[in-house]
Amino acid sequence: MDQAHFAADEGVSNDSPNPSFADILATDIARRRLLQGSLGAAALGFVPGMAAAATDKPSVKLGFKAVPVSTADAVAVPEGYNVDLLYAWGDPISSGPGFKADGSGSAADQERQAGMHHDGMSYFPLGKSNSEGSAHGLLVMNHEYTDDGLLHADGMKTWSAEKVRKAQAAHGVSVIEVLAAGNRWKVVRPSPYARRITASSPIGLSGPAAGHALLQTKDDPRGLRAFGTFNNCANGQTPWGTYLTCEENFNGYFSSAKEPTADEKRYGLKEGGAGYRWHEFDERFNSAKHPNEPNRFGWVVEIDPLRPDSLPQKRTALGRFKHEGADVQVAKNGHVVVYMGDDERFEYIYKFVSENKFDRQHPEANRHLLDRGTLYVAKFDEFGGGVWLPLVHGEGKLTAENGFPDQGSVLIRCRQAADAVGATKMDRPEWIATHPKTGEVFCALTNNSLRADEKNPGTLNASNPRPKNVFGHIIRWREAKGDATAKKFEWDIFVLAGDPKHPDEAQRGNIKGDVFGSPDGLWFDRTGRLWIQTDVSTSVINKGDYANIGNNQMLVADTVTREIRRFLTGPSGCEVTGIAGTPDGKTLFVNIQHPGESPSERADPEKPTAFGAWPASQFGATLGGRPRSGTVVIRREDGGVVGG
Ligand code: FEO
Ligand code: CA
Ligand code: CA
Ligand code: CA
Repeated sequence: MDQAHFAADEGVSNDSPNPSFADILATDIARRRLLQGSLGAAALGFVPGMAAAATDKPSVKLGFKAVPVSTADAVAVPEGYNVDLLYAWGDPISSGPGFKADGSGSAADQERQAGMHHDGMSYFPLGKSNSEGSAHGLLVMNHEYTDDGLLHADGMKTWSAEKVRKAQAAHGVSVIEVLAAGNRWKVVRPSPYARRITASSPIGLSGPAAGHALLQTKDDPRGLRAFGTFNNCANGQTPWGTYLTCEENFNGYFSSAKEPTADEKRYGLKEGGAGYRWHEFDERFNSAKHPNEPNRFGWVVEIDPLRPDSLPQKRTALGRFKHEGADVQVAKNGHVVVYMGDDERFEYIYKFVSENKFDRQHPEANRHLLDRGTLYVAKFDEFGGGVWLPLVHGEGKLTAENGFPDQGSVLIRCRQAADAVGATKMDRPEWIATHPKTGEVFCALTNNSLRADEKNPGTLNASNPRPKNVFGHIIRWREAKGDATAKKFEWDIFVLAGDPKHPDEAQRGNIKGDVFGSPDGLWFDRTGRLWIQTDVSTSVINKGDYANIGNNQMLVADTVTREIRRFLTGPSGCEVTGIAGTPDGKTLFVNIQHPGESPSERADPEKPTAFGAWPASQFGATLGGRPRSGTVVIRREDGGVVGG
């Protein structure tokens, strides 16, 4: 979801005095760096290790012809590629009720169907070999939020407990079994793996904050069992075969008292929330009555898709914030590292390092790896260096006198802890992805139009160098000595997105290749191609700053040459979200979120297709009635590697 969703986040939650490097020197460096144009490694004048390494890295092949920008109501892929629809909102996960195009399906139906607003996604191969696993597997995906104007037959004109239940059932996660049949893929129905986890499913709370007083509620006095997960944005996949789903804008589902508490404000809670109206029929979403309930959201949840009966776990060691994704790496020394962004303007980038090591031989031994370890937050300096600051109770300012009586409170009030240690405020950290061969880490900073504006003077810094950053950028870092558990790193800006035709020079960016803005999804395929997905808000797309950029899109970058080429354009009003591939690289699954979205981000149920009718517009009227988020399958006509 874009941050502007239902105007929930028109302000800034982070008014901590953390360094935004207002001093003249820093601002000057940021300006100079911005004006350097190409921002090549040499031009940056730092990161010798990175520059040297770049020369010995092989480039990847971008073996496809770029697709042009588009405003069509269809997914476009390069010549020689096929695109198919696999799994859209309302499709049954297994044997079960089918989609009703007029929105009249019940809450009980929705619990057994694809949720709305597909987002992050991972593929888990089944079978014994690479080729078997590339033709049969599980797809696990997030359903981030709902457009209640499309979800119910009459939208939100009337409101009821049944509608709240249906909305809750349209959130969460899908697990579906998928199988290739020749050149096409299908959902296996029935399937023993098929599963929906929704905004009311039981979920364990584990790790250092489990059982904490701030997590105890009337319905769960021990603070060990949450109910549901929602606003699941991006994702992660562990090497022990589990899926991580990340709770992002959870605040929007709660209605606080007229004046929220200071802790509520720091996470953006307010009276009425973002307009989901769950609190009207489900009292736990009234935080004035249930003050600890919001503390049970904003976590990373681990799900074992191969065990349909297993209880998902909220891994509190990874901190509580508006989680975008969770990029999991095994460091050279065997410890597990998870990189995570907190997607809001002026928020932070985090890294978790496990206490224990990954055990490749004994998958069971890895089950609680994410429960013990150290959480860090990033501080980027003005000269291309950076440090990971530990968020550990008792260290520095993280003491009882400052509101952190124990480690549980550090993790639950993670944003406040990161404020206290002096982390760097970033331009909305979205997905993070690590190059599979070089270990370089990339983070999409989607945009921040408030950076260095009249209300936020002095907020320019070298890592967020552009005032009024409407197009966003991608930052890259390399951990010291190539050790993902290191406490120091070196960074540079991989690309400043923008439009070379923009009247304001600062907004032109330095893309070597095809134009785009608002990078969000980042994913590496096995060979090291960096896939970039965009999330330009429907409120600004195809006009103003974004007049020349067309619908949201997906591009591929060669991280050595920095060439970026457009691979896909999405249908009207959509955002391009999740991405996953088979081990052989020959099938790519991509999620199309909120096609046909209205600029107000809520459809008029009387005119549901006023802004687009995908997938019916592309794949046939029988899919009809209302725009539907969906998973598409992309293959090469000659059966070759996608992108190669
Ligand atoms: Fe749900 Fe930050 O995008
Ligand atoms: Ca969006
Ligand atoms: Ca986004
Ligand atoms: Ca996102």
